[in-house]
Amino acid sequence: MEFENRVVLVTGAARGIGRAIAAAFALEGARVVVNDICSEKSLAAMLHTPPFDNGRTRTMRVDIGDLAEVERMFGEVESVENRLDILVNNAGIIRRGSVETVTEQEWDDVIRVNLKGTFNCLTVAARMMIRQGHGKMINISSVAAKLGDITSAPGYGPSKAAIDALTKTFARQLASHGITVNGVAPHAIETEMSAEWPEEKRRAIVDAIPLKRLGRPEEVAGAALFLASDKADFITGEIIDVNGGFLMD
Ligand SMILES: NC(=O)c1ccc[n+]([C@@H]2O[C@H](COP(=O)([O-])OP(=O)(O)OC[C@H]3O[C@@H](n4cnc5c(N)ncnc54)[C@H](O)[C@@H]3O)[C@@H](O)[C@H]2O)c1
Repeated sequence: MEFENRVVLVTGAARGIGRAIAAAFALEGARVVVNDICSEKSLAAMLHTPPFDNGRTRTMRVDIGDLAEVERMFGEVESVENRLDILVNNAGIIRRGSVETVTEQEWDDVIRVNLKGTFNCLTVAARMMIRQGHGKMINISSVAAKLGDITSAPGYGPSKAAIDALTKTFARQLASHGITVNGVAPHAIETEMSAEWPEEKRRAIVDAIPLKRLGRPEEVAGAALFLASDKADFITGEIIDVNGGFLMD
C-alpha cells in the first residue's frame, strides 16, 4: 500500500472532501488523524465506519482558528506517533452574501478559519517537519482564488487567494528542509457546502463545466494523494485545478 504507516493529518475531515481524503489515505495504509470541529459524537461514530474502523485512525476535535488548540493537536500527534509525514489543510467555511450586505462578523469568520486556520496548521506542522527533515503539505484552495467571487461569498475568494500565496511562501522557505507544499483548487464538488445551491444555480454551474457534471470528493482526494506521494517529490509550490475544465489556465 502506497502510504503504509505514514502519519497523515487532515483538517475538516468529518465530512465532504476532507473525509474523502482521509478515507483514501486510510485505504492506502496510512495512520490517519481526523481533525474537525464537529461534535465528539460524530467523530466517535466515524471510528466505527469503514475505512476508519481499522485501529489506525484517531480523531481530534480542534478549532484550527485557535493557535493554542492547534499547538496542542500537533503536540499530541508528535507524542503519540512521533512524526507527521503529511498534512492536508482542508477545513474551510463559506458565508454567502453580497458585497453590499456582508457583515464584519462574516468576513472575520471566513478569514479566521480559512486563512488563519491554514496558517496556524502550516506553521506548527512546519516546526515538526523541519525537525524530522521531511514532509508534504497540501492546502485545499478553490477556483475562487483566481476568479474572485463566483458563489456570492465576498470573503471566500480572497481567503483562498491568500492560501495560494501561503502555499508558495511555505514551499520556498521549506524546500531546503526536504518539505514540499502544494495546493489543490477544486470547483463545484458535490458536498454539503455545494448542496446549498438552488437548482437553477446548480444547472448554470454544471452548464459552464466542459465535463458537464459536478465533481466528486474522491476526485479531489486523488489529486491530494498524488501530491502527497513519492511520485510528486519534485513538485512544490504548485496548485492543481480539479474543476472539470471550468477554468483552463
Ligand atoms: N465543495 C466545493 O465545491 C468546493 C469547491 C472549492 C473548494 N472547496 C474547499 O474544499 C474544502 C472542503 O469543502 P467541503 O465542500 O468538503 O466543505 P464541508 O462544509 O462539507 O466540510 C468542511 C469541514 O470542515 C470543518 N470545519 C469547519 N470549520 C472548522 C474549524 N474551525 N476547525 C476544524 N474543522 C472545521 C467542518 O465541520 C466540516 O466537517 C474547503 O476548504 C472548501 O473551501 C470546496
